[in-house]
Amino acid sequence: MSFRPQPAVPSRLNRCQLFGPGSRPAIFEKMAASAADVINLDLEDSVAPDDKAQARANIIQAVGDIDWGDKWLSVRINGLDTPWWHHDVIDLVEKAGARLNQIMIPKVGCAADVYAVDAVVTAAEKVAGRSTPLALEVIIETAAGISHVEEIAAASPRLQAMSLGAADFAASMGMQTTGIGGTQENYYMLREGARYWSDPWHWAQTAIVAACRTHGVLPVDGPFGDFSDEEGFLAQARRSATLGMVGKWAIHPKQVALANAVFSPSEAQVTEAREILAAMAQAQKDGSGATVYKGRLVDLASIRQAEVIVRQAEMIGG
Ligand code: COA
Ligand code: MG
Repeated sequence: MSFRPQPAVPSRLNRCQLFGPGSRPAIFEKMAASAADVINLDLEDSVAPDDKAQARANIIQAVGDIDWGDKWLSVRINGLDTPWWHHDVIDLVEKAGARLNQIMIPKVGCAADVYAVDAVVTAAEKVAGRSTPLALEVIIETAAGISHVEEIAAASPRLQAMSLGAADFAASMGMQTTGIGGTQENYYMLREGARYWSDPWHWAQTAIVAACRTHGVLPVDGPFGDFSDEEGFLAQARRSATLGMVGKWAIHPKQVALANAVFSPSEAQVTEAREILAAMAQAQKDGSGATVYKGRLVDLASIRQAEVIVRQAEMIGG
């Protein structure tokens, strides 16, 4: 371990972030009633330019009016290259009230983007007399964002989560695809005439996970566009979970249960993790740093792996 220990990520569930356009208030109650851990009301790309002001008003009213239960409530503001973002921030902080937990900044390209929003939030919080600091989350979805991912992860103590946004990322990178996440038909290796598909999102995901884990931020997989393709969603989500991401967006209510299933450890995994911790506790009592569990080596690293699973199970259990 480095002299500086790795900071813990925020201890809250973030298995699924359900999105809905701020211009469609009829679905807000349904979002609140869903099983998603995080709700993202959108002011950005799912809202047409002429509807921005009305969407902002809808959201400000809904934050206070709707019973969001114990959900983590976040609003995606417009990008810093638009004429809307600063009014989004000031109005949300000054008018939406303390129930709003977080603001999501899209298309972040460098640490200064986060710094700028942090500065406006900080001033607006003083005006509003807000006592709990508003959290921030960002989307990495541009070439600049992925190039500066580590400085972005370190940019603000308010930063709690970072998502990969596959569609804008593909566009910014000039990738030859119009799909939002998942398997890409033309990304394959050939061996003896047979095709083997590889994962074009892998490197960006691992870069995000490493930056997040270095700075105590939750790494999240973004949208999967084809909400009719459940197997495709599950395959994408399982790869993300394997790489260390903690959750995934849902852009349709159908995807919430799928994300929750993938990002919740199974009963068998929790049982095994508890058994490994027990085996290691016994080994340490016996003066040993390693032991054998079900025919395989477990050591101090196994404790850290098992603790991740047990901690997650405890949060889900409430
Ligand atoms: N959250 C909660 N409920 C939703 C919902 C959402 N995001 N999207 C749709 N619903 C509801 C519908 O109102 C409908 O409810 P009902 O059975 O009571 O009538 C039900 O779920 C089925 O909806 P469906 O008809 O399949 O979808 P739709 O055509 O109404 O909407 C989308 C499809 C994709 C346009 C819509 O889901 C959506 O806007 N998703 C979020 C888009 C977004 O925010 N993008 C930005 C991030 S990438
Ligand atoms: Mg985007």
